[in-house]
Amino acid sequence: MELPFSESYKIKMVEPLRRSTREEREQWIKEAKYNLFNLKSNQVFIDLLTDSGTGAMSDRQWGAIMMGDESYAGASSYYNLKNSIQSILGFEYFMPTHQGRAAENVLFSVMVKEGDYIPGNSHFDTTKGHIEFRKAHAVDCTIDEAANTELYHPFKGNVDPAKLEKFMSENHAKVPFIIVTVTNNTAGGQPVSMECLRQVRKIADKYGKRVVFDSARFAENAYFIKIREEGYANKTIKEIVKEMFSYADAMTMSSKKDAIVNIGGFIAMRDNELWRQCSTFNIMFEGYVTYGGMSGRDMNALAVGLDEGTEFDYLETRIKQVEYLGNRLKEFGIPFQYPAGGHAIFVDANKVLPNIPKEELRAQTLAIELYLEAGIRGVEIGTLLADRDPVTRENRYPKLELLRLAIPRRVYTNNHMDVIAVALKNVYDRRNELKHGFDIVWEAPIMRHFTVELERVK
Ligand code: F0G
Repeated sequence: MELPFSESYKIKMVEPLRRSTREEREQWIKEAKYNLFNLKSNQVFIDLLTDSGTGAMSDRQWGAIMMGDESYAGASSYYNLKNSIQSILGFEYFMPTHQGRAAENVLFSVMVKEGDYIPGNSHFDTTKGHIEFRKAHAVDCTIDEAANTELYHPFKGNVDPAKLEKFMSENHAKVPFIIVTVTNNTAGGQPVSMECLRQVRKIADKYGKRVVFDSARFAENAYFIKIREEGYANKTIKEIVKEMFSYADAMTMSSKKDAIVNIGGFIAMRDNELWRQCSTFNIMFEGYVTYGGMSGRDMNALAVGLDEGTEFDYLETRIKQVEYLGNRLKEFGIPFQYPAGGHAIFVDANKVLPNIPKEELRAQTLAIELYLEAGIRGVEIGTLLADRDPVTRENRYPKLELLRLAIPRRVYTNNHMDVIAVALKNVYDRRNELKHGFDIVWEAPIMRHFTVELERVK
């Protein structure tokens, strides 16, 4: 008999979870103004709000933490990280930042100005925020297949080269660079193929532009290339990662995802002049260039995390767990962005709750129902997140209205995945009883989803 698949690690330290009653949860979510970000973590049983900074570090990473060098300038931890970035990602220059959006802030302070256009696949909300804050525009050239959640496509995160070429031919004078997000979080944690990265490089070269990768989940992207793209089955993840980044001039990184640390980020680039320009902003916003908002111990843990995060066995364990949850939902007939992405399952709220008017926030309503059902916290990737148009101030209704269930790395077991699947099935089974969602009673002018306050539509 063939042995079943199992995790490539064992558990050394645990953290208790607190169960709650439905009555408690009714009270807590009301007090939280129906915004899941406002809940206290001990009011949550299984926390799928994000896979960012929520992973479990390894014994090797904790060991590296003890060896952290906290010197203000020139710490050995900085050089450990520099070596790791150079050998795994292939960039000669880098600077640490406290997280991914800080990397965007520093890099875009140099590279983005008012009136610019930044095309790419779906920009993450902080990326778009940093572009729009500078009165520039994010242009989404993701393939159309990404918007059809039922359709199988091996690389649903891809940039559509025809859309990109058309946009560039008409607007290249106002484009400082092209950005590719690997994996494409907004489209459902969907990967970008090597072929697509090559095509983007070619278009950028034609117009003499730089290519930047938003690299938060680059290793998960490499895993999908190995598994799904012809010619890569026998390459190691590290070889694939090297080739991916060979098509980029610079990268921003949120280390809280695929580098499996709780905080941190960086910018890496090939061009010394770009590094110099960024270093001024880094010193102003983040810290001196050899720590940039990170402690020495955290840089050490990150240096190890980049190595562990690009090992096949770890990635296989990780992505098979997400796939396992997807398979359970499929069994119950629950529609989600298919195939399952690398870091999360994205449930299609337009298909689950079509009876709720879209103005009443379908995905947020589903997120709240799942919390009430079992204390599981997911996150809305829909109308709240899409925010208002900066010019017209009208709500932007995105093509996809999703409830994201992000799976932290090395944290939960497949028993937890079973609880999530059954809880969602219970909500799904009573979906026709749900007729109304929520109204916004207060929102911030930008990135409203973090702090929005809601009330039930009666
Ligand atoms: N880019 C992508 C693709 C992201 O998913 C994120 C964060 C960032 C940039 C910003 O990085 O959080 O370190 O400042 N995504 C988290 C999420 C928050 O839940 O998907 P950060």
